[in-house]
Amino acid sequence: MKDGKFITLGIETSCDETSIAVTAEGREILSDIISSQIAVHTKFGGVVPEIASRHHLQNINGVLDQALSEAGISLAEVDLIGVTNGPGLIGAVVIGVATAKALSLAAGIPLVGVNHMHGHVSASYLQYPELEPPFLALIVSGGHTNIVEVTDYNRCRVLGGTRDDAVGEAYDKVARVVGLGYPGGPKVDRAAKDGDPEAVRFKRVYLENGSLDFSFSGLKTQVLNYINRERMAGREVNVADLSASFQQAMLDVLVDKTMLAAEQTRADRLVTAGGVAANSRLRQMLAEACGARGIRLYMPEPVLCTDNGAMIAAAAYYKYRMQGPDDLSLDAYANLPL
Ligand code: KG4
Ligand code: ZN
Repeated sequence: MKDGKFITLGIETSCDETSIAVTAEGREILSDIISSQIAVHTKFGGVVPEIASRHHLQNINGVLDQALSEAGISLAEVDLIGVTNGPGLIGAVVIGVATAKALSLAAGIPLVGVNHMHGHVSASYLQYPELEPPFLALIVSGGHTNIVEVTDYNRCRVLGGTRDDAVGEAYDKVARVVGLGYPGGPKVDRAAKDGDPEAVRFKRVYLENGSLDFSFSGLKTQVLNYINRERMAGREVNVADLSASFQQAMLDVLVDKTMLAAEQTRADRLVTAGGVAANSRLRQMLAEACGARGIRLYMPEPVLCTDNGAMIAAAAYYKYRMQGPDDLSLDAYANLPL
C-alpha cells in the first residue's frame, strides 16, 4: 500500500518488449517502462525467439528498478504482482514468470498469472476510468484476431477469430515482401498514408454468411502474386499504393465483421485492443462506423495498445479481486485460450 492505495506490479515479456509497470487502485498508472528490442530484431527481419529470451533476461532487473523508482514505490509497498503467463514465445514468457515468482517468494507478495490477450482488453480500463464490463471487444495483435463479448472483468465469450493469419501477422508478412521490413504494421500504416487504397483491388474474404470468423492468408497470397506479376512485366511496384490497397482490403472486412458482431449482440460499446489497434486507418474507420451506429468507442492511446506492463497490472488487479492469488506452481504457456 502507498498512501492508502493498492499497488500492483505488472510484468510483460511475451514477445519483444520487456515491460514492467506500477499501478495504483488498478487503474492509475504510476510508471510503465517499456524496453523494446526492435533494434535487435530488425536485422533479422522479425523477432528471433532465442534472442528475445536472452534480452528479457538481461533487461528485466533494470526495467524493474526503473519502474519502481519512477513510481516512487519500494518493493515492500507492492500488494500484488501480475505477470503474463501466456500466450507468447515460450522462452520469453518463462523469463517474466520466473522473475514474478522469485519476487513473490522473496518479498511475500501475492502473485497472479495473466492471459496476455486479457491484458490487452484491460488496457482500456487504464484510459477510461468509467469503463466497466459488459462490452464488445475487437482484439487485433501479432498473434491473435478475435471479436469477443467481455461479460465480466475476468470472463469473455469468443464470437469469432481468424482461421489462419492474425491481422498483425498479415501486416508483418506483407511489409516484408514489399521491402518495408520489421516491425511491419507501423511501417505499412505510415506508407499507406501516401497511397491510394483503390489502386489495386484485392478480393475481400468474408467466409460464410453471418460468420464472425476471418481468413487473411489468401490476401497475403494476392499481394505476393500482384508483386510477382508487376515485376515480371517490368513495372515498378508503388509501395504506398500497394500498402494502402492491402490495408484497406483487410480493414474493410475487420470493421464490417465487428459491426456485424455489434448488431448480432446489440452491443452499444466497443473496446479495441492489441498492437494493430494502434493503426491510424483502423482507428479512423472504426470511429466512422461506430459514430454512424451510435456505438460508443473505446480506443486506448497507441502506447497502451501495443505490449506494456500496465495492461497486465490492470488485468491482474481484477483477476485477484475475483479469484484470489495463484500459487508458485504457476506455469508458462505458449498457447493459452481466452
Ligand atoms: O499486441 P502486440 O504489441 O504484440 C502481440 O501481442 O502480438 O502487437 C504487435 C503487432 C505486430 O504485428 C505489429 O506489426 C502490429 O501489432 N502493429 C501495427 C501497428 N502497430 C503495431 N499494425 C498496424 N498498424 C500499426 N500502427
Ligand atoms: Zn500483445
